[in-house]
Amino acid sequence: MSGDASTMVIVEDLHRSYGSAGSDAGAVHALRGVSCRVPRGELVALRGRSGSGKTTLLNLIGGLDTPDSGRITVDGTPLADLGETGLLEMRRDRIGFVFQSFGLIPILSAAENVGVPLRLRKVPAREREERVALLLSLVGLADHARQRPGELSGGQQQRVAIARALANRPALLIADEPTGQLDAETGLEVMELLRAVVRSEGVTALVATHDNTLLGLADRVLTLNDGLITEEGAHSREGEPSQAGQRG
Ligand SMILES: Nc1ncnc2c1ncn2[C@@H]1O[C@H](COP(=O)(O)OP(=O)(O)OP(=O)(O)O)[C@@H](O)[C@H]1O
Ligand SMILES: [Mg+2]
Repeated sequence: MSGDASTMVIVEDLHRSYGSAGSDAGAVHALRGVSCRVPRGELVALRGRSGSGKTTLLNLIGGLDTPDSGRITVDGTPLADLGETGLLEMRRDRIGFVFQSFGLIPILSAAENVGVPLRLRKVPAREREERVALLLSLVGLADHARQRPGELSGGQQQRVAIARALANRPALLIADEPTGQLDAETGLEVMELLRAVVRSEGVTALVATHDNTLLGLADRVLTLNDGLITEEGAHSREGEPSQAGQRG
């Protein structure tokens, strides 16, 4: 893991505090010097208890927030070099986001939701329809294209959100607790879909989760503890709690 070409995300000594700027009193140090790497083509899980800084880190990597100090490079581009427009284009064209709450537009059908990022890029209708159909079949929802989010199960809604996140063929997929609102079995299906998509679409994924099942599917697990990365390494079943090794 030496050259930049093999690394999708490089995070160096990242700090982010919330609250009273200038004074330390009352400030929350969400990230206190985080450094980590996400290798290209891998599914990387980010774990850590509530409040450990997972969402803060994902939002910074995704260009939704800016750090107090430190450096983030995504797909070879230092985010600090991008202005507002550059960041917007990065988020639109090179990063796909999946959130715990799905974030679908209620009045649009599944197919229309998946097509939104393509409309934003002014992709012609014919090409858009073909891509949407392909994505919906990729996530197993070809037969549900016309249903609105309210007419789909939670797991199906998250599948639509994943299809939408992949619409513009992003280099990086960022998912913040994508199974947080799903039951264990549906959550596993969504995680397995993410696992499959990383292989078939050649996308790199960074997924925050409390869910132990994803940890077994990930290529690598990063652990955040109180704003610091305390563990980093390729996934290994050795040293895992014994109940984690029963699948497969
Ligand atoms: N907008 C904000 N304003 C002030 N403090 C914040 C803000 N967002 C997060 N924090 C604080 O920063 C710390 C890290 O929060 P973050 O949301 O990154 O944690 P998390 O690991 O995603 O937690 P969870 O698993 O509950 O989603 C927490 O102490 C939180 O209270
Ligand atoms: Mg969070």
